[in-house]
Amino acid sequence: MNNTFEPLSPPPRRLMGPGPVDVDPRVLQAMALPLLGQFDPRFTEYMNEVMALYRQVFRTSNRWTLLVDGTARAGIEAVLASVLVPGDRVLVPIFGRFGHLLCEVARRCRADVVAVETEWGTVFDPQRIEDAVKRHRPKLVAVVQGDTSTTMAQPLDAIGRICREHDALIYVDATASVAGMPLETDAWRLDAVSAGLQKCLSGPPGIAPLTFNERVEAVVRARKHVEQGIRPEDYEEGAGRIIQSNYFDLSMLMDYWSESRLNHHTEATSMLYAARECARLALAEGLENRFERHARASRAMTAGLRAMGLALFGDQAHKMPNVTGVYIPEGVPGDGVRQALLDDFGLEIGTSFGPLHGRIWRIGTMGYGCRRDNVMTCLAALEVTLRRFGHACAPGAGVEAALAAWDAEESGAGAND
Ligand SMILES: Cc1ncc(COP(=O)(O)O)c(C=O)c1O
Repeated sequence: MNNTFEPLSPPPRRLMGPGPVDVDPRVLQAMALPLLGQFDPRFTEYMNEVMALYRQVFRTSNRWTLLVDGTARAGIEAVLASVLVPGDRVLVPIFGRFGHLLCEVARRCRADVVAVETEWGTVFDPQRIEDAVKRHRPKLVAVVQGDTSTTMAQPLDAIGRICREHDALIYVDATASVAGMPLETDAWRLDAVSAGLQKCLSGPPGIAPLTFNERVEAVVRARKHVEQGIRPEDYEEGAGRIIQSNYFDLSMLMDYWSESRLNHHTEATSMLYAARECARLALAEGLENRFERHARASRAMTAGLRAMGLALFGDQAHKMPNVTGVYIPEGVPGDGVRQALLDDFGLEIGTSFGPLHGRIWRIGTMGYGCRRDNVMTCLAALEVTLRRFGHACAPGAGVEAALAAWDAEESGAGAND
């Protein structure tokens, strides 16, 4: 039997779901560059550059700003596994699927998890978090900034202050929000933040940028344990409990990413190139410009969807700018429409999870995919498809409203939403 296959030839797509989204071609180019040995001076220089770039992306002066290999949840696991010991209390405010993920990871660290929930499509009033922090006295509050499952973004400034006042650490999962909306690690007093490349940073999934401050560093250092076989002579083991995971042990990753360059894993070279290029491009554009581009796309997309007679999901005052939730109209098959968009237009939009499954679609305008042409193409394709499935909407209304909203922004005439 012949077990060879044709060369890969993925069909052309516009990825307009909640992620992954289309990778910036300049990032793909960076990934095609030759590998270097991980202790090649040029490569370690790249590692230092990556640290410097992501300090700017996260808006922090944290020394410990590095990459964890693996998709975004590798960053989550690295923080939680390195900070939490069994029995530690963790407070998780849940406003969507990824809050549940934080609980799940914390439970696997055998932490004592206290979850507080708010209805999907809403976010937390900081007072509720303060009450919960006072009542439960957690070691750590773990919260998502932007939860793609509900399209909501939790304001974090007040929560960061509350955690600091009550001497709790705060960890933020900014996978879906970083480089798409403001994130102020230091100004908001966030102790640890992690992300992924595959959303507003326009990279492929597979590596997780991460930053943490000296408060987290102290916890991690106390648990320091270096593999036998690579221990330096002056090695001193931490007095605390060993970090259960070798791969996600931040104390060893710190040695790997510092001047001591103590070997840990083999760095995912091409992913590091990708991460470096993602950050470089975001900073070259300017973070504020990038946030505004995402906000403009959101205003145009929401204006277009409304003009098509569709209802938007969730509290619009707290909607993430890079993903829009829209109710599937009565009688229209949600998955049928998504399949038709893929077959007829090569355009992917997202389904959704849990209580929202079958009720809303999620449309992403993120990173490289956050463009005027993508918004208009998506609305035009959706309109034609909806009419074919029997949903009445005025021809051209969506695109016209979106063009007007986008251009109003461009001439500085203000939001149309
Ligand atoms: C907010 C958030 N956190 C975590 C993840 C998990 O990321 P990954 O699938 O890259 O591990 C995602 C992915 O969609 C996300 O949106």
